[in-house]
Amino acid sequence: MLKSPLNYLFAALALTASWGAAADPVVIKFSHVVTDDTPKGKGALLFQKLVQERLSDKFKVEIYPNSTLYGDNDEMAALLDNKVQIIAPSLSKLDQYTKQLEVFDLPFLFDDLNAVQRFQRRDTGQRLLGAMASKKIVGLGFWNNGMKQFTATKELRKPSDAQGLVFRIQASNIITDQFSLIGATAVKLPFAQSFSAMQSGKVQGTENTWSNLYSQKLHTVQPYMTETNHGVLSYMLMTNATFWNSLPFDTRSRLQAIADEVTVSVNRDAEAINAKNREMIVSSGTSKLLTLTPAERQAWRDAMAPLLQKYSDEIGADVIQAAQTVNRKAH
Ligand code: LMR
Repeated sequence: MLKSPLNYLFAALALTASWGAAADPVVIKFSHVVTDDTPKGKGALLFQKLVQERLSDKFKVEIYPNSTLYGDNDEMAALLDNKVQIIAPSLSKLDQYTKQLEVFDLPFLFDDLNAVQRFQRRDTGQRLLGAMASKKIVGLGFWNNGMKQFTATKELRKPSDAQGLVFRIQASNIITDQFSLIGATAVKLPFAQSFSAMQSGKVQGTENTWSNLYSQKLHTVQPYMTETNHGVLSYMLMTNATFWNSLPFDTRSRLQAIADEVTVSVNRDAEAINAKNREMIVSSGTSKLLTLTPAERQAWRDAMAPLLQKYSDEIGADVIQAAQTVNRKAH
């Protein structure tokens, strides 16, 4: 958490001094937990490139991917303490800061990534970028990874197949409940521990996107994958308010414009990256891919349906309703 307001004061003074004296560019540290070749990893690199091209007199972006500087357990504290200036955590890891973003964890709420993007672009989505303002967190944009799939050490065709298994999950209460509803146990583990938890047998399954599964080599320790597209993995590109507000208005606007441009690029390419990684997993031959009939998929949806009601008050019925209107298929 925020250790000392003095940290901010010193950071702000350093920045102010540097504007006046045309000093060295201010370093923006961008820390994240995935590899460079995932939607978020590529977005971070593009952000770095555009800042270098357009604002190199003012900023230098340093990227720390794949939990090399901070991981799931400490990146938010590092942001609030101004040790890093940008992170892009999964929306599933923010329920201790705001309940509204839990809407993204409700399974089978969004039909596909296009629906997710429609929601994020509309008023309610844009408002959610400010959901953590009281915690001094500024949302700069939503970056999508993709839709999640289930994987395990056995075939998961129907919900009861998951009974008794232990799944690695992101730190989300809704996802914990999602697995309880199908008779499984969920353990919240940092992303960086996923591979070893599966390799050692500590957990037998997980849920994630094709790009996260492939880039962490999880397919080599998960022999079965079920294509459910049951939920979304999406991020908030964020900075801390004290850092952000210490920037001159013009500079801040130019950084935001770069963030907006990268957001468009990440969200345009995410689906293709995941499709390619799905193919690489299939062609690697390590895992069997199960696809579901509409009736089989409906059984998973039905099993998890109680979550909508359970979390409605906590998230806000208006937020859920706004999300429901972005789908184009009838249910
Ligand atoms: C996970 O923990 O599975 C993901 O949130 C990792 C990420 O940042 O995509």
